[in-house]
Parts: sequence; structure tokens; C-alpha cells
Amino acid sequence: MSEGRVKVVEKFPPGRFAETAWVREGRVYEEAGRDYLAFWERAAEELHWFRRWKRVLDRSEAPFYRWFVGGEINITYNCLDRHAESWRRNKVAIIWEGEPGERRVLTYGELLREVGRFANALRSLGVERGDRVTLYMGMVPELPVAMLACARIGAVHSVVFGGFSARALADRINDCEAKVVVTQDGAFRRGRIIPLKDNVDVALREVQSVERVVVLKRADNDVEMHGDRDVWWHELVAGKSPKCDALPVDSEHPLFILYTSGTTGKPKGVLHVHGGYNVGVHLTAKWVFDLKDRDIYWCTADIGWITGHSYIVYGPLSNGATVVMYEGAPDYPSPARWWEIIERYGVTILYTAPTAIRFFMKLGEEWIKGHDLSTLRLLGSVGEPINPRAWLWYHEVVGGRRCPIVDTWWQTETGMIMITPLPGVSTLKPGSASRPFPGVFAKVVDENGEEVKPNQGGYLVITRPWPAMLRTVWGDPERYVKTYFGTFPGMYFTGDGARVDEEGDFWIIGRIDDVINVSGHRLGTAELESALVSHESVAEAAVIGVPHEIKGQAVVAFVVLRDGVESTPELKEELRRHVAEEIGPIAKPEEIHFVSMLPKTRSGKIMRRILRALEEGREIGDVTTLEDVKAIEEVKRTEQE
Ligand code: WT7
Repeated sequence: MSEGRVKVVEKFPPGRFAETAWVREGRVYEEAGRDYLAFWERAAEELHWFRRWKRVLDRSEAPFYRWFVGGEINITYNCLDRHAESWRRNKVAIIWEGEPGERRVLTYGELLREVGRFANALRSLGVERGDRVTLYMGMVPELPVAMLACARIGAVHSVVFGGFSARALADRINDCEAKVVVTQDGAFRRGRIIPLKDNVDVALREVQSVERVVVLKRADNDVEMHGDRDVWWHELVAGKSPKCDALPVDSEHPLFILYTSGTTGKPKGVLHVHGGYNVGVHLTAKWVFDLKDRDIYWCTADIGWITGHSYIVYGPLSNGATVVMYEGAPDYPSPARWWEIIERYGVTILYTAPTAIRFFMKLGEEWIKGHDLSTLRLLGSVGEPINPRAWLWYHEVVGGRRCPIVDTWWQTETGMIMITPLPGVSTLKPGSASRPFPGVFAKVVDENGEEVKPNQGGYLVITRPWPAMLRTVWGDPERYVKTYFGTFPGMYFTGDGARVDEEGDFWIIGRIDDVINVSGHRLGTAELESALVSHESVAEAAVIGVPHEIKGQAVVAFVVLRDGVESTPELKEELRRHVAEEIGPIAKPEEIHFVSMLPKTRSGKIMRRILRALEEGREIGDVTTLEDVKAIEEVKRTEQE
């Protein structure tokens, strides 16, 4: 996006929104700034604790911070029991719509019972406190049920996005040594069926730890059930009691592991815990989305990503909200689907990604016009910087100029929204994520960790711990320390570039590491490259991200073939398919260039900067570190072909 730095021509003050918002005064920022531990302590008091904490924050083993030390909690008590015991018992928790068109509604009371039944079912399979359970499912109500059921008995869930391949699934199961996998026969996607159970079967050929597989019947496609290992969900829960008390666990007890891409080939298992995470997602969901009991809240993310964990499941349910969940593709059976859903259920808050906004922008307004979107009162954006043009379109065409837009910056690792407007307080600037949430401290620094001047680009860091922060990288504490606290001592390094304008508003530039952001999904270049070289025809590969009109960034690969292998269009197709099989369809390279060598530094590091400049048609800067200038010439030639 080249318009990222356009001059702000318009600002949007909160207007009438401020009259009723949870937060109406900028004072909260100063209050939280004066004593941030007292601020987070007050936030924790909004939740139910089985035992109150003794200390808010323990830094004695920094950067392994511990929050609400000595407290006992269970996040599912706050998401379920608290509401089921109140007037919200029969309030709708989840409105679900399947891609083929079925509808299901679960009240808080019903959700509690479903979770209890499945928690008892997991126990009957031998799942105990601390055990890992991999959930490889689509967007069905049983996914949040399974997550909450794990958390209820102190087990640790690891959701693997249903778009990931068997290979990627196997790696993730092996890394956390899951004992049980929960999946479904198939998942609907754009009218087709993704064979999730078949993928599990393939994955488990390379897995030792898994004892049992639970299979939800969803798409009715044929699957093979393996004797003692596999069990149908409906047969397993039949006869199980719907009552299962939430197990009180330590504040720091693991809640879930979610894998995300980094700079090396191996995805990182980001670990979140019950206590601090609950506090962080509860307060941010409430304040950023201004969640009220009458809202119908819809976050369009897939639960396979952190956005779904924090802002479909835990944050909204902790607040007793009504959540819409949609199973399928946004343009199935037609590009009107989302707008029909908003109209059908009277959605008041919509949280989505810039890539989706650009997608609908391109399709044209006729799919939106004619749908009553007047219930909407707040819009949200997440996943990548939103370009001002898309912001203005979202504001006008979807929001009818009434709705503030909260552009929320955060990461899998941060667990909760970190930089964001507060809709009743902030003056919005299209393209800016506004300011750190109260009690969150961020700045932009240079290579030496010194804060840069306004409007100067630099590295985005978080300078103090926050309650929902990741606690470690599963099984690799050294990687946790090195990746996040190794660059600037004492500060959490985000991997993003940013600038702060003269009014203190943050403008996120994007990843500055070897991570590509495709449609808001994080892909590591190393992961993509190892997928390519795992093909028999490939000797070497380098991958870069290039700007893409709808996806934000797209993957472009430069491939050196093995001696004697012919470079054909068919091979290109095969390699693209191969990457999709290795990682998942979202990782499919947009383009592949065959070259006979790659530009490298003398120490052998691939110079992605050069490849990027070539792809974008820019002049190449200093190439004195290049091992072979010929490689550039050649890449240039293939560009012109
Ligand atoms: C990376 C985190 C957090 C949910 C989705 C992605 C980029 C995210 C924004 C935003 C600019 C953003 C960053 C970040 N990002 N939101 N509002 N403005 N960039 O989670 O896969 O952990 O990716 O997404 O580059 O580091 P994730």
C-alpha cells in the first residue's frame, strides 16, 4: 500500500458515541499511566476469582512475568457460570449460521451445559489438567464448546486453523505432544468440503502422542474410523452429564497454545494463561468495542487465529455478549452473504480485516446496497495497516458515516488489543491505530533502543509487561527470551515498524522481519522456503512479500531448480500446489520465478531486499555485499519475460 503515508485530510471526533460509551473521558489514560498496576487490579476485580491474588505483578524472573500471583480462577467460570447464574441464563451467547444456511442459537445456559458435557467426555478419554488437546475444526459451535471444555478441566487447547495441511498439523501436534485431537468429518468452504478427518489420519502417521481422536459429524462426507482410536462426538457425549464444575486453577495455569510464524522455519507455540489473559481480553473487549448487553457482536475472523480466540470466544463471552458466528466464505453463495447476515441478526458491532474490506470494495457497492445495515454502530479493523482509502470506504459504505472505526493493533503474542482508539474518546485518523490502550505502554525506538522523534520511523516496542502477554514459547523458553526481549533489553520487541505523529498517534508500518502478512495471516519466509525445497525438483528457494491490492501482501518465490530439471509452466503449478499441501492454501505463492542462482551476501544470506526491489521495479541500492552480481542480472531478465 503506497498510500500509507498520505496526509490526513479528515479527522473524526467521537461525536454522539461519547454520550453512552463505557469510556467517555480521556482521563483513563492518565489514571492508568499514574499507576498501571492499580489500573489492572481494578480490571481484575470485574471477574470472579476463586481466590484473590496476593500480588498484581511479579517481575522477579523477568521476562517471565507473572500476573495476579497466588490467585485462583477459571476463565470458563467468567465466560459461562457467571452469566448462567444471572438474568443472562437465557440470553443468547452464540448465534451460528452454517455456510449451507442452517441456523443455531445457544443461550448461556445451553452453552454451559454443552461445555459441561464435553468436559466430562474429555475426562472419560483420560484428559487431565495440563494435558494438551489439538482442535482441528471449522467454524462450528462445537469449536468454542471444545475450547471451553478443555479450559474448564485445566487442559490446554491448541487450535490449528482448518486451512492448514496435514503436514502443518502434524508438526503442531508433535510440538505440544497432544494426547487427544478433536476434529470433524469435513468442513464446508465455498460449497466444497474440506476433508479434515482425512487430514488428521495422514498427520497422525507421523505422530506418537495422540491416543484418541474425537470426530464431529458435520459435512457427512465419508471418513474412515480407526477402531480403538477414533470416536464420534455424538456417541461420546451421549449420556454424559451436562454438569462439570470449573476447576479452579492458578492464575498462571496454561490456557492455550497457538502456533504462529516467526523468522525461522519452525512455528512458535505461543502460550497464554487463565488469569492475566482473562483480565486483558475482558477489559479490551468491553472498552474497545463498547460492548453492551443489547449488542449483537460479529467478529468475522476464524477461531483458528488469535483474533477468534480473544474476540469471538473469551473476550465477548466473558462480558456476557451475544456473538454471531458464521461458518463459511464471505462470498458464498453470493457476495451479499455478509450483508444479509448483518441485516438478519441486526448486527451492531462488526470486527473484520482490511483484506476483506478491500475485497468487497473491489466487488462494488451493489452487493451492499439494498441491505439494511442501520443497526451497525461500531466497526473494527485488525490484521494489517488499513489504508486510508479502504478506511473511508468502510466508514461510508458499511458504516453509513455513523460508526466510529476502531483500528486495533495487536498480535498473537500480545493476546489482547494493544494500540487502538477508544470509540467514545479518540479522534480517529484513517490509517492510524491511535494510542496504546490505557495501562499499555508502547514507543518507537531506533537501533539503539532510543525513542525517535515524532514522525520518524523506527521499531515498535512495548515497554512494560501487560496482563495478557504470552508467557513463553512452548517448550522453548530461550526462544521466548531471544525473540521478544533479545533485541532491546527490558523491552518487548514486536517485529513491527511504526511512527508516532506529533499528536501521539501511532501509525503502524508493518513487519520489519522476515514475516509476510497475507490477508492478515502471518507466514514466515523460512517456512515457505523450506516447503519449496522439500520438493524434489528444487535446489534452492527465496521468498518475499510484495504489495497486493486485496491481500495486502502476496507471496512471490524465486526458485533454483536441481540440475537437469526443466523449467516448465506445469512445474510452476506443481510447486504452488506443493506449498499449499505443505502449509496450506493461504501460503500458495502468487508467482514463481525460476532463476539459476539467488543474490546472496558473502556470508551466504539471501538478500531479500534485492529481490523485493527487483519485483517492485525499484533501483537496487548498495550491492557491494553481493556474492554474485550475475544473479541480479538474471532475476531482472526473468522479470521481463
Ligand atoms: C501482526 C500480528 C492480532 C490479530 C491478527 C494478526 C499486523 C495486526 C494490525 C493493525 C497494522 C497490524 C502486525 C502484527 N497487524 N493488526 N491494526 N495495523 N498492523 O495476528 O498473526 O499475530 O499478526 O499483524 O504486523 O505484528 P498475528
